[in-house]
Amino acid sequence: MDKSLEFTPPHRCYIDGAWVESDKGLRFSSIDPATGDILAEVPDLGALETQSAISAAARALSDWRSRTASERGLFLRRFGELLGDHKESLAQLLTREQGKPLLESRGEVSYAQSFLFWFAEEGARLYGDIIPSHTIDARLLVMKQAVGVCALITPWNFPYAMITRKLGAALAAGCTAVVKPAEQTPLCALALARLGEEAGIPRGVFNVVTGDAQAIGKTLMSSDIVRKVSFTGSTDVGKLLISQSAATVKKLSLELGGHAPFIVCEDADLDEAVSGAILSKFRNSGQTCVCANRFYIHESLYDSFAERFAEKISELNVGNGLLPNTHLGPLIDLAAVEKSERHVCDARDKGAKVLFGGSRDKAGGNFFQPTLLGEVEDSMQILQEETFGPIAPLVRFSSDEEVLRRANSTPYGLAAYFYSRDVGRVFQFADDLDYGMVIANSGVSSNACAPFGGVKHSGYGREGSKYGILEYVDIKYLLVGGIGS
Ligand code: SIN
Repeated sequence: MDKSLEFTPPHRCYIDGAWVESDKGLRFSSIDPATGDILAEVPDLGALETQSAISAAARALSDWRSRTASERGLFLRRFGELLGDHKESLAQLLTREQGKPLLESRGEVSYAQSFLFWFAEEGARLYGDIIPSHTIDARLLVMKQAVGVCALITPWNFPYAMITRKLGAALAAGCTAVVKPAEQTPLCALALARLGEEAGIPRGVFNVVTGDAQAIGKTLMSSDIVRKVSFTGSTDVGKLLISQSAATVKKLSLELGGHAPFIVCEDADLDEAVSGAILSKFRNSGQTCVCANRFYIHESLYDSFAERFAEKISELNVGNGLLPNTHLGPLIDLAAVEKSERHVCDARDKGAKVLFGGSRDKAGGNFFQPTLLGEVEDSMQILQEETFGPIAPLVRFSSDEEVLRRANSTPYGLAAYFYSRDVGRVFQFADDLDYGMVIANSGVSSNACAPFGGVKHSGYGREGSKYGILEYVDIKYLLVGGIGS
């Protein structure tokens, strides 16, 4: 049951269990991408306030990590339940601040909640080892210990779920955290902070700082107290963080850009493949790291796939996510619209055919039409880089060897999709696709029990699943000698 539709997030930051302003009284605006309206002004924090958040997390660490895992799990479960209690108001806020359709926002609240519930249980399963000893008078043990204070730097495209996916794992392992949400979606992060406070999570255990990415990022990265950084965002920023982490030798988890291939083999179920393509491409208006970004269709199915895909795309409504029947909300900002436009123009100039859409949408400044491009070639920009917009480029292929080579010829390695009914081919493709996540006969794969993450320039580390919590522990080896002497 939704308890309070009038729930609104505080417009202040959350440090050491208190709601604070910027020291200098600076603020910045959270803007509705559908209308351009200012939703609220929130604190624009800098280095000093970030330092206070780090100190608060450091002070809270010893008490938090010495509690039992099941006690920490109870806090996380309560936190998750509160997300459920406020589901509708959280969904409305998400649609206003980020733009995605209300139905997807409700889905994201449940997705965010699922990480808190998952890690509420996982903390109690952080088993160590006893190693058969190399001598008779010693015992060798392995323990997993919380790494300490973590910085969690999160993106705007899933502003609840990307926080809980990191924070759930960090807190369950016994770490404390400073969360830095994207500048585009501070209110969603502050709403979570409010619910975490209501769940009774002790002061300082997690802190939320909004404001300038560079000032806050630099302070987090240069601090020796921060032992771990988890970041979701672009590959360029990820590479910068790797270099900034060197001076203090931090542990990193990086979930970076993708450029997912979506392959339809000659034996695919065409209707299933078209439904999967719609889901994979147009979720969040194409603004997910795992969105299909290039569609390789076997030449024997190309025309019929293109026709049915265009038909389904024509049924998608573009508009404000708060309106019923909207399937595609706005893109996050004008720069995102311009990138989509650039990819379409470049492809068209080089000979691609626009089979559907192709332009900005009449719904407003940040809206772009769902777009289908045919006869796309490797030389076109859209086959070389992530679009992060609602554009589906179609490419013909004629053999498995060819499509695997083309699918793998990218520095990225996050997610890859393919459709085939041949079990031999399913396992062959699973082996040969150089990606952290390979998805056969489905357009979506994300859930709390599966390991999310990439290879190559898409980053390292895994989130969710039994692996996600391991990103927040150090392995400690204990030798007990003198036994029997
Ligand atoms: C992302 O785009 O980074 C996350 C998408 C997901 O969790 O499915």
